[in-house]
Formats: sequence, structure tokens, C-alpha cells
Amino acid sequence: MNDADEDLALLAPGLIHELRHPLLGIKGGMELVEWKLGSAIAGLEEWKLIQRQVQRMEEFLHSYQALLSSGKPASSFFVVEEVVDQAVELLAFRLKRLGKRFDASHGSMTKVAWGEPSAALHAVVNVLVNAVDAAEEAGESARVQVRVVGGPTNIEVRVSDEGRGVPRELRRRLFEPRFTTKEPGKGTGLGLHIARTMMRKYGGAVRLVDEGDPARLSWAKTEFTVEIPARPD
Ligand SMILES: Nc1ncnc2c1ncn2[C@@H]1O[C@H](COP(=O)(O)OP(=O)(O)OP(=O)(O)O)[C@@H](O)[C@H]1O
Ligand SMILES: [Mg+2]
Repeated sequence: MNDADEDLALLAPGLIHELRHPLLGIKGGMELVEWKLGSAIAGLEEWKLIQRQVQRMEEFLHSYQALLSSGKPASSFFVVEEVVDQAVELLAFRLKRLGKRFDASHGSMTKVAWGEPSAALHAVVNVLVNAVDAAEEAGESARVQVRVVGGPTNIEVRVSDEGRGVPRELRRRLFEPRFTTKEPGKGTGLGLHIARTMMRKYGGAVRLVDEGDPARLSWAKTEFTVEIPARPD
């Protein structure tokens, strides 16, 4: 590895390391605020939102750290719908703009999968952001839907959108690192690559769903799936 490569390889661990300190500072500051203001702030919906976002930030750092570490990662059973709800909450500001064109409702029968919930959250968030970008680009009526589908070996989070779709000639490039069709400053082209790498680490996958797939939504112009093993292998 030359010096430039080595610098690059240290970038992600370095970033995680550096971010942990301000994050601890934010958490400490929040505890102090709560201590000073008590129930006047603790019950506020906006305050709870900030708390949950800080918690998500911690989870993201954790999932990146697990991605960078060698060896077999720790896995556990988790409820997939809870991960979807967290992703929706995390993107609430953007999803609100879609109004009724966005749907992530699920029934009371939940599905349990095996892996690392923060890696699944990371993957769902990235795929969902892409779907929202695509729908917004396509105009006023484009829909986005997230649903959880259960199979015998995998649980899938399917994200469908009514954007312009992915041109056939670009499909094989989607997961390449730094492949982006977004304007400079808007996309890094790392979203799908990192999401897939993270999911693979836990025996899962991220795929573009084929047009002929029987479970694909009929109106979807693009559908991605985040696959999570249903149980340990
Ligand atoms: N739902 C979608 N509809 C149409 N094209 C998509 C969709 N999802 C991904 N793509 C295409 O795949 C490319 C790569 O996606 P990826 O998430 O890896 O990077 P990005 O969204 O461009 O940037 P980043 O995620 O790093 O901000 C996108 O630039 C876009 O061309
Ligand atoms: Mg993206």
C-alpha cells in the first residue's frame, strides 16, 4: 500500500474516531439541559426527535465500525418492521414532502430477521433516499412505497418508486463505488456500494429487483430489495 492509499484507508476509521467525541459532547449537553429544565423539555415531541436522531447517529457509527473490523460480526434476531419505522422517522423531513404519495404501512404481524439491525437500517435508509430522490425528480405524482416481504430463507425490505427508472445500460454499474448520475455535490455514488457491503457482512444483500419478479409492485419503475437472512445459517 502506498502512502496515499494508506491515508485513504485511515479516513473512515479516523472519521468514526473523531465523530465519537462531539457526539459524546452532544449527549452530555442534552443530559445537562434535561437536568436543568426537567419535565418542561423531556416531554416535548421535538426533544424526543432530537434524542432519537442522536441515537441513530450512534448506531450508524457502530455499523461503520463493524464494517471496518475484521472477523465475524455479532448478529441477533430483530423485528424488521421496527427498522423500517426507524428509517422512516430518520427521513421524516424529506418524506413529509411526498405526503400521501409515500406509504410504509405494515400490518400487526411482524417479521423477525437475523443480523445487525443498524446495518439493515443503513441499507434501508440509503435505498429509500435514492427512491425519494428519483420520485422528486420525476414530478408531482410519483409514489414511493416500502414494504416488508417474508420468504422461507430471507426477509426482504422492498422499496419501490415511480421515478424515471434505471436505464438498462446503467443497471450493472449501480453498485460500483463512486458511480453516480447526480449533480456534483448531490451524490457521492457510495450509498448503494456501502449498503451492499454492509449487508453482505451479515449474510444479506441489496439488489435491484428484476422486472419479471413476481413480488414486484406493478406500478414500480424501480424496485430495490434489502435482503436479510431469516435465521442463522
Ligand atoms: N431508485 C432509483 N431510481 C433511479 N436511479 C437510481 C435509484 N437508485 C439508485 N439509482 C442510480 O444509482 C446511482 C448510484 O446510487 P448510490 O446510492 O450508490 O449513489 P448516489 O445516490 O448517486 O449518491 P449517494 O448515495 O452517495 O449520496 C444513482 O446516482 C442513480 O443513478
Ligand atoms: Mg444514494
